[in-house]
Amino acid sequence: MKKESDSIRERISARDLLSRSSLHLPGDRVRSEVRRQASQSFATQNSATPSGGSASFATVKAVMHQQLLEDLDRRERITANEDELTGLVTDFVTDALATQDWPLNDSERKQLVDDLIEETIGVGPLAPLLADPAVSDILVNGPYKVFVERYGRLEATEVRFRDDEHLVRIIGRIAARIGRRIDESSPMVDARLPDGSRVNATLPPITIDGPTLSIRRFGRRRLRSDELMKLGMFTSNMREFLRFAIRGRINMIVSGGTGSGKSTFLSAMAEAIPDTERIVTIEDAAELQLDQGHVVRMETRPPNIEGQGRIVARDLVINALRMRPDRIIVGEVRAGEALDMLQAMNTGHDGSLTTIHANSPRDAMARLETMVLMAGIDLPSRAIREQAVSAIDIIVQVKRYEDGVRRVQSISELVGMEGDTPQLQEIFRFVSKGKVNRKITGEFVATGVVPHIVERMRENDVDVPVHLFHTSTGTSTRNEEERPSDDRARSW
Ligand SMILES: Nc1ncnc2c1ncn2[C@@H]1O[C@H](COP(=O)(O)OP(=O)(O)OP(=O)(O)O)[C@@H](O)[C@H]1O
Ligand SMILES: [Mg+2]
Repeated sequence: MKKESDSIRERISARDLLSRSSLHLPGDRVRSEVRRQASQSFATQNSATPSGGSASFATVKAVMHQQLLEDLDRRERITANEDELTGLVTDFVTDALATQDWPLNDSERKQLVDDLIEETIGVGPLAPLLADPAVSDILVNGPYKVFVERYGRLEATEVRFRDDEHLVRIIGRIAARIGRRIDESSPMVDARLPDGSRVNATLPPITIDGPTLSIRRFGRRRLRSDELMKLGMFTSNMREFLRFAIRGRINMIVSGGTGSGKSTFLSAMAEAIPDTERIVTIEDAAELQLDQGHVVRMETRPPNIEGQGRIVARDLVINALRMRPDRIIVGEVRAGEALDMLQAMNTGHDGSLTTIHANSPRDAMARLETMVLMAGIDLPSRAIREQAVSAIDIIVQVKRYEDGVRRVQSISELVGMEGDTPQLQEIFRFVSKGKVNRKITGEFVATGVVPHIVERMRENDVDVPVHLFHTSTGTSTRNEEERPSDDRARSW
């Protein structure tokens, strides 16, 4: 529970930020960003969310970071070495805190110094991009091509590195900070930064035209299911159904292409897991954000420099089963862990959730089969399919459409096998109708089918209202003539 004095301090600090004439905010963009953050601070100060307390701190930090970068840039010290930068940042913050009356307590001041050092050191020309909270991805294709994604859209930036060597040095620093090495003998690195951002870097000759760096920002802003719905990812009926499904312990796979929003969607759906359950999460780079109190987070480990100590997702799934989990969430199935997951789902560990990289529910099933084979166990195709069909209840297909909007393309139920072929039945789908001003128009429709799992969920005391599946539950613009046919059980 936030103290009254904290809340007053926040109010003062946010107001201060807007009126302080000594700030010399650099440009309109920063000014409006600060204003936006400050107003967010007002909006959240009375809310019960834990994030409500940190908005003004974040605002102070954003302003300071921008000032610091300008200062370093003016003095041409932005690419200085780490020791020198640590000194410069510490001096800057000490000065700023002495001359500007920021309403921060001692621990916040220390946190501010640590955060600014963390954000400034070693990332060179990328620093301004990292300081911009609207940037969700930073993609560097060689020294002269740097792109960012803001609000779902990719944009080229003016940011440049001096040359290949400059970029390689910064990639090396990022890797070194988390105890990894990248060089000719191991030219790829995949890692998680201390703030949770995911980083992948490659060097030539793996990437032919130069070094690359891909940063998926994380922890800046979590998209909750309410927001995803407002962003047009799904309708309230779809969400309602999935919430019931999660409470009713169905096994669900979220399928989609790279960056289609699978992990975000999974986190949002996990909001519906009751707080009384013990959840074990398994990821390559921990990025899931869960509200529940009882969560054990596990992360795979790459081999060390001597090539020893590798721990793969499969080891973690096997271990997780011994931890008395109520639910296992595997961030993404990529290999042999698929077998252990399916077995777990089939042996009473219901309610498991995962994501898979695939372009359709059908493709997801085919990939799952290949992954099970990667466990090195010689199972006939049919046996694997049967196991998959009896384990998985629902496949949610997500997609980043051409207009940059991520939508749930379909929600399908796996209803059984016909011969050797798993049968999928769509429950909801997005029907695209074309484009207006580069924006895709269309609507989410219910196919009218009441899924089989509704009955099973009833046995678990979760009563799903069947009106959710009525064909009229699409968006209000729904054209009745375009109602999908009744023959929805599709084979693949
Ligand atoms: N509905 C949405 N609207 C706008 N942005 C979204 C939406 N869903 C996800 N995002 C953003 O898209 C980016 C990619 O999302 P996410 O990491 O969930 O995708 P992914 O499919 O799991 O990616 P990967 O294939 O790399 O694992 C993130 O920056 C996230 O904040
Ligand atoms: Mg993901």
